[in-house]
Amino acid sequence: MNVQTVRGAIGDVQAEVVVVPVYEGEQATRRPLKDVDRTAGGHIAAAISSGEFKAKVFETSLWPGNGAGRVLLVGAGPKAKADAAVMRRVYGAAARAVRDKFSSVALLLRSDAHAESAVDGFSEGDFEPDLYRTERKTSKVQTVTVVGAGDMRRQTEEGRVLGGAVNLCRTLVTMPPNELTPRALADRATAELTEVGVKVEVLRGKAIQRMGGLLGVAQGSSEAPQFITMAWEPARAKRAPVLGLVGKGVTFDSGGLSLKPAQSMDWMKGDMAGAAAVISAMRAIAELKVPVRVLAACPATENMPSGTATRVGDVLRMYSGKTAEVLNTDAEGRLILADALAWLAERGVTHMVDAATLTGAMEIALGNVAFGVMGNADAWVDRVVASARRSGERAWPLPLYDEYREQIKSEVADVKNIGGRPGGAITAGWFLREFVPDELPWAHMDIAGVAWGDAKPWRAKGATGAGVRTFVRLAQDLAARA
Ligand code: BES
Ligand code: MN
Ligand code: ZN
Repeated sequence: MNVQTVRGAIGDVQAEVVVVPVYEGEQATRRPLKDVDRTAGGHIAAAISSGEFKAKVFETSLWPGNGAGRVLLVGAGPKAKADAAVMRRVYGAAARAVRDKFSSVALLLRSDAHAESAVDGFSEGDFEPDLYRTERKTSKVQTVTVVGAGDMRRQTEEGRVLGGAVNLCRTLVTMPPNELTPRALADRATAELTEVGVKVEVLRGKAIQRMGGLLGVAQGSSEAPQFITMAWEPARAKRAPVLGLVGKGVTFDSGGLSLKPAQSMDWMKGDMAGAAAVISAMRAIAELKVPVRVLAACPATENMPSGTATRVGDVLRMYSGKTAEVLNTDAEGRLILADALAWLAERGVTHMVDAATLTGAMEIALGNVAFGVMGNADAWVDRVVASARRSGERAWPLPLYDEYREQIKSEVADVKNIGGRPGGAITAGWFLREFVPDELPWAHMDIAGVAWGDAKPWRAKGATGAGVRTFVRLAQDLAARA
């Protein structure tokens, strides 16, 4: 998808279709709708005034107009509620309506402030996850022209990069686990990131021999674990702050010997969505040349049952030196993340955040709408939540009160890897906290409820790219305040 910008009005663009957002209750008597209507012989004004087109959010309606072309009206709902996150979805809904019909699309902006959302949302809606279908529902869209009043080049570029990163994340999460093995994930990360100037080094074998958590989870699988490390160190960045990102990369979670029931396993190819978000965000951060140092680590492995798998009751010696009793092999994410967090904390990061599809309990708590954020420093958790909000993602804080720590006490080791049903997302967070130095601000995003979702008017069913936009915003925020 090639993106360009044009200053002007509808008459200045040549495109097979022009996308025009309409607010609820708005009449076509004023610009820019008046200009649009003039190219459509008065039909659009009639459709709006008669109530045939109500401009309900995500409603779409296609009309002949703009010369030999078409005009797609897309409802934006009440103007007062149409913030950047809503407008992103509005342009996403437009993409779903035009992607199989037109090769050149113009996006009319109702405000130049929507330029980034328009391109980002349009790419989101343009994506189909049918990567492996012989007859794919391929998009016809080749060029997207953003039409606004001023110079929107920087904003549209930001939208293009963000949308691309979100779709890279969705591609990785969609890929099947026979194809996207830990090794394939590491190779893909290397290819995607080296190209944009991120240094990638994959540690394996002897280089990860002290990572008892990662090795313990991997030992039931015939696929070797990979520890993917990434560094974005732009010349323009100050020495500090240094952002540390960690992502859970379980390419398939069967549960191990604590095997999952069949219905709970059908999306477990997506248990690497945290790693995919980190890799994709690193790509966007580099493409946008965000002037801040960012180091990242993604432990990648399968979680499989076999004669060599970790047993229930095994005690693992973790990278930090602490010991962990494994009382459920399906609580594997925290074991691999603990090693990654402890490893990254040794490498000079000043702030750390991880993303993981960590617990079903998180999905129960916040549903499929928001992800939970917890950590060891309230101010840092608040900053992560604020970055999520400003990026258009929904996030909410959860407490790591000391009382919850009791639930992961082990009789034989420093900690155990399950804390019972009450507060299951929080006790998982507490387990991670045990492996992070107290003085290093760290936050954990449990994206289990939002990493994949049902079809929406603005995007296809499946992987969502959750976490990517929050990470990029957070890096930009750190760069701005450095
Ligand atoms: N990958 C799962 C968490 C998950 C569940 C993600 C549902 C997305 C949707 C994780 O490894 C897991 O199995 N967690 C267990 C932990 C329990 C055994 C303490 C869970 O949530 O059931
Ligand atoms: Mn599991
Ligand atoms: Zn898992």
